[in-house]
Amino acid sequence: MKDRIETLLGEIEAFAAQNAEQAEQFRLNYLSRKGKISTLFEEFKTVAPDMKREVGQLLNRLKTKAEEKLESLRTRSESEESTSGHTDWFAPSGAPQGSRHPLQLVRREILDIFGRLGFTVEEGPEVEDDWHNFSALNFPEEHPARDMQDTFFIDVTDPKNPHALRTHTSSVQVRILEKTKPPVRIVMPGRVYRNEAISARAHCFFHQVEGLYVDKAVSFADMKQTLLYFSREMFGADTQIRLRPSYFPFTEPSAEMDISCTICHGKGCNVCKHSGWVEILGCGMVDPAVLSNCGIDPNVYSGFAFGMGIERITMLKYGVNDLRLFSENDVRFLGQFGGG
Ligand code: DAH
Repeated sequence: MKDRIETLLGEIEAFAAQNAEQAEQFRLNYLSRKGKISTLFEEFKTVAPDMKREVGQLLNRLKTKAEEKLESLRTRSESEESTSGHTDWFAPSGAPQGSRHPLQLVRREILDIFGRLGFTVEEGPEVEDDWHNFSALNFPEEHPARDMQDTFFIDVTDPKNPHALRTHTSSVQVRILEKTKPPVRIVMPGRVYRNEAISARAHCFFHQVEGLYVDKAVSFADMKQTLLYFSREMFGADTQIRLRPSYFPFTEPSAEMDISCTICHGKGCNVCKHSGWVEILGCGMVDPAVLSNCGIDPNVYSGFAFGMGIERITMLKYGVNDLRLFSENDVRFLGQFGGG
């Protein structure tokens, strides 16, 4: 009998209940009138008189233990049920909220604006070969942009077609034109790399959005109107643009586009160096040689292209004056832009 009491003591101690039902099961098993402990009390009558004192004490201890356990099972299952039954999953957690990176916000806005004009999004690889980054885009063999000082070459096993980190997203134009029959109307966002000393105005990596429209009879006027629409959507309806003649190997004619200064609205300030204008992108009519390189007949098709830095647009839009802030991951800076 002493052994059976010890065993029951062990069982009772180890018993765990998840809910009120299991606590009740415990009561029925051990403490009810037909439970194991009552049965032992019944048997107690048959215990030899010289053992009665010792066994009686043990039995009483067992009963008290069981009652205490039942009490604790009941209170625990009650409190667990009340929390799981009433948890408010939407209550504020108290943890600080994240926000989108400003470059992501602006990237999305640029793609949205061109999306409204029917431009779809394409992407290309960051590790690019010489053909797609330079040759197909009409860069002459000795062009300085190919120089080791500007380009991060990563594999020159084939000197005629070395691999490098792309220096601009214009490479994606080539990749898409090679495999698509016009009309092509696309914007191509992505990260680009240049071997530059890091400063407030330059970084060894940054982001661009490239644009391309190739079809029959696409004109310079189409380009101008597209870029005016973009500028006014991005910087406000009173924004003016101006195009200055420039040179890029892959466009002819080429231009750089300025917008009226977003800070002083043309009156003259530090950002626009008192000129009233700030440059935001390069553009031009796709050079016929580029179309031919991609297997497109320049006598049938024409097109325009443009390329802009996302950092530059973001700096103008939000008045940020140091490029390095975008990659330092300081949440005091990043948290100011909101945007979920
Ligand atoms: N790829 C040029 C750069 O990285 C930007 C550019 C200029 C892109 C003119 C174009 C363009 O498509 O037509 O500086």
